[in-house]
Order: sequence, then C-alpha cells, then structure tokens
Amino acid sequence: MMAEADPPAWGAERITEHSILGLASVAAWVTFTFDGEAVEAIAGEPLLAALLASGRRVLRTMPRFGDPRGGYCLVGRCADCMVVVDGIPSVRACMTAVAAGMVVRTQHGAADDRDLSEEPAE
Ligand code: FES
Repeated sequence: MMAEADPPAWGAERITEHSILGLASVAAWVTFTFDGEAVEAIAGEPLLAALLASGRRVLRTMPRFGDPRGGYCLVGRCADCMVVVDGIPSVRACMTAVAAGMVVRTQHGAADDRDLSEEPAE
C-alpha cells in the first residue's frame, strides 16, 4: 500500500464542511492554477478558502479605480470574491468548489471588459 503524500502545511485552518458545498475530502489534494501559478487545495473545498490559505488576498480589482478586493461576506452575497474560472467571468470564489485542473484568474474590472486575449485557447 502506498503512503499518501503529506498535505501542504500552510498554517491555516481549512474549511472541510461547507453548508452549501458539502464535505470536502481531506484525502484528495488537487492542483489548480491562479494567474498561472499552481495552488494545492482539498478537492471540494471553497475556492476562496484555498486561495486565502495559499496566501492570496487579491482576487479582483474594481472597474473604476482598480481597488483590490479579496472577499468580504464569504457567503455569496457581495461581489468581492469574483474571479474568472475556466474563462467564465464573475464566478464567486466563496461559492465554488475546487476541482483539479481549474484555471482561475484575477478578475480585472467588470465582466464585460475582460481581456479576451487571456482566455484559454480552444
Ligand atoms: S465573499 Fe462575498 S460573494 Fe464571495
């Protein structure tokens, strides 16, 4: 029997049971990318929790002045955690479960002024 790899040690507590997303499997560590950098997370945990645990604090910038935002309500009521997931803008990171291979980007400005040149090739 193969020994499971030790999970990354971030020094932060993880959300393993979410009232809407359900249980995350602490045995299933997966990798996704955020702005091109690999991030390890527990499969099924909230994307926002994984990003905060990895030390990332800015998930979007505001359309008018570019002010940084990184989550506020944590329950899907505001718009501070919106990111681009697999080319889809305005995805709330606090309400999205992590899955292996997700391509996540910072959302700059409003959804309709995104830079389409950064979208993944089909
Ligand atoms: S932090 Fe408010 S909707 Fe996600």
